[in-house]
Amino acid sequence: MSKRQSLVAGNWKMNGSLESIGQLVAAISQGVSEGTEAEVLLCPPYVYVAELAGLLEKTDIRLGAQNVSHLESGAYTGEVAPSMLKDFACEYVIVGHSERRMLYSENDVRVAEKFIAVQANGMIPILCIGELLEERESNCTEEVIARQLDAVIELAGIMAFKAAVIAYEPVWAIGTGKTATPEQAQEVHEFIRLRLARHDHETAEGVRILYGGSVKADNAKQLFELADIDGGLIGGASLVADDFLTICHSVR
Ligand code: 13P
Repeated sequence: MSKRQSLVAGNWKMNGSLESIGQLVAAISQGVSEGTEAEVLLCPPYVYVAELAGLLEKTDIRLGAQNVSHLESGAYTGEVAPSMLKDFACEYVIVGHSERRMLYSENDVRVAEKFIAVQANGMIPILCIGELLEERESNCTEEVIARQLDAVIELAGIMAFKAAVIAYEPVWAIGTGKTATPEQAQEVHEFIRLRLARHDHETAEGVRILYGGSVKADNAKQLFELADIDGGLIGGASLVADDFLTICHSVR
């Protein structure tokens, strides 16, 4: 039986208002306080990080961000430094989400630099990796995953994965309602763990690998039951308190 504690993370993306997040957090923290096996994390848009830091202060729910600059400070209009997130009690930062890779041209090296910057500031990166539909259909899934993972191993070193989380998010499953089958997800999760194990077995065994992509209240349990799936990174369903709580309660 795995000793890895499951993590269920809500990625709110660019959604919500001051009013709606107050209601959402109240409902989620109420549900979480009634007990869950999972570690629960919320990642709001930047501007709500400070507000959430206050709302979550007396709860067991952790706070994270969806992105960060790879740089420490300076003339970078519109960017947010890792130290600023740390100032507001962020513990986790998502790096390399496919929406950042595709819509904001973040490449493997930039993602690796962000991963390092997050750790250098005492926070835990959640490294997102995943293939496009064309890549899966042309049997390139493992090649893409290996490339995205190796770029970070090369720059940060394998030991950096002792304080990191990986999220496998097949791009074709994000926001489409088309979840990977449990078999498809487990196969890639196992591949990721084996890839890390080529460098260090213990690190590979210890790292948490989340699945993301249309995780819903009615499919979370069958995904979270699998040997190499240690929780989920949840988009749409994390904006609905009851659905998100059902997902939190679905961990093994
Ligand atoms: P959905 O759960 O909306 O498919 O989004 C997944 C995701 O991108 C989480 O980071």
